[in-house]
Amino acid sequence: MTTIHGPLLYEGKAKRVYTTGRDEEVLVEFKNDATAFNAKKREQLEDKGRLNCQISACLFELLEREGIPTHYCGLESDHWMVVQRVKVIPIEVVLRNVATGSLCRETPIPQGTPLEPALMDLYYKDDDLGDPLLTDSRLSLLGLVSHECRQEIETLARRVNAVLAPFFSDLNFQLVDFKLELGLNSAGELLVADEISPDTCRLWDMDIRDEKQRIFDKDRFRQDLGGVIEAYGEVYKRVQGVIPKPRNYR
Ligand code: TMP
Ligand code: ASP
Repeated sequence: MTTIHGPLLYEGKAKRVYTTGRDEEVLVEFKNDATAFNAKKREQLEDKGRLNCQISACLFELLEREGIPTHYCGLESDHWMVVQRVKVIPIEVVLRNVATGSLCRETPIPQGTPLEPALMDLYYKDDDLGDPLLTDSRLSLLGLVSHECRQEIETLARRVNAVLAPFFSDLNFQLVDFKLELGLNSAGELLVADEISPDTCRLWDMDIRDEKQRIFDKDRFRQDLGGVIEAYGEVYKRVQGVIPKPRNYR
């Protein structure tokens, strides 16, 4: 690595964040830890860190080309990424193109119902509270973001969906839903942060009808379906087929 990292700033379930010699940038290490159900289920999956780092880099570069601002600066090595330092907004932004997962557990909407326009659900990012669903009134009560910022978040998340959904469809994956984390950089600009990977997206192969076999994302881990890394590897292979190798930081 060319960037010698400084002290650990933060350790999450899937990543570690370190300082660099530069105030505006931090180094992110993608770990092999897989967790689900607020880390009640936990496993080490060899190569997951590299795959998620590389896939995220490709997708951040795709968004960047489409004029969508992200925190991504470049790759440092196979599972390390340099990103802009941001203040992460403690909201998980979920966009749903097809009903599944918690939406179908918590409402009578049948599995597989197409959602047009995509449904946006916001969750309060707080592990101790179990990341609860936010209503707009709770959002303003908590004062997490201004009304204008709330609107900016929705516009940005829908723009990301408008790029990613057709991109994955060309790779024969349906982008069922995904989660974004957003942050503000020192200039106050709203950026897509964290990662975009099979850990944070649901991807179904469009040619496979079997409801379990078509899953190429973290639901394989959540549901104990096996073949998690093989599925992530296939996602990476298809992404690599159309996006050139992501840039190195220098
Ligand atoms: P959900 O149906 O469980 O609410 O998940 C919606 C999307 O958000 C799905 O693509 C998986 C992703 N997700 C995360 O990235 N992290 C999480 O902690 C959860 C619960 C979901
Ligand atoms: N990221 C969450 C956790 O570990 C849950 C999930 O992705 O399902 O616990």
